Amino acid sequence: MKIRQLFDYDTWTYTYLVWDEATMEAAVIDSVLERVERDMQHIKELGLKVKYLLETHIHADHITGSGPMRKQTKGQIVVHKNSGSECADILAVEGDTFKLGHQEINVLHTPGHTNNDITYLIEGAAFTGDTLMVRDCGRTDFQLGSNENLFHSLTEKLFTLPEETMVFPAHDYKGFSQSTIGEEKQFNSRVGSGKSFQDFSTAMDNLNLPNPKRIDVAVPGNLQCGNLDD
Ligand SMILES: [Fe+2]
Repeated sequence: MKIRQLFDYDTWTYTYLVWDEATMEAAVIDSVLERVERDMQHIKELGLKVKYLLETHIHADHITGSGPMRKQTKGQIVVHKNSGSECADILAVEGDTFKLGHQEINVLHTPGHTNNDITYLIEGAAFTGDTLMVRDCGRTDFQLGSNENLFHSLTEKLFTLPEETMVFPAHDYKGFSQSTIGEEKQFNSRVGSGKSFQDFSTAMDNLNLPNPKRIDVAVPGNLQCGNLDD
């Protein structure tokens, strides 16, 4: 499996292209509307056949490019069932699998940042969205976020994966690009080295973050899969 990481410098979002080398069947994870042209050119240059347009969750900070990409690639848009999305092709739940050639993409429901977070597991790599970020995790104060659910998703689900599992987040604000489950179990600032739920919950309740600037347009835009003119 090949992985290519792309960056949107306006919203600090990572988009990933993953593909099976034997068949060139590919998935795009968390595209960004303003970067569709750049990413489509990359996809063409690499000769990828996009089969899936995967979302780790309904984003609040940027609008997805999955709708426009679907028109160009015929890929199927996948989001979690809890999103209630009417534009997606597949409403995924825990345990669903998708295939790129012989490679499997496994769906883990890892809520807490929102109620519709998916971690996509692909051959030793976990695309963790905003559930687990490098030394950090997503906020829990909107979109049906929950400290309890996030703590459970991190410590009972993601931290039970093999330690060498590579971690690819949806965002980074400090310049990190990837990590491993073993590293995050040890060094994650919110839940690393066996922090208690109480410590975690107190820290999450005191982040005092402003709302994302574009939340009022991003969430409805994402529920239209980024097809703003349809
Ligand atoms: Fe998010």
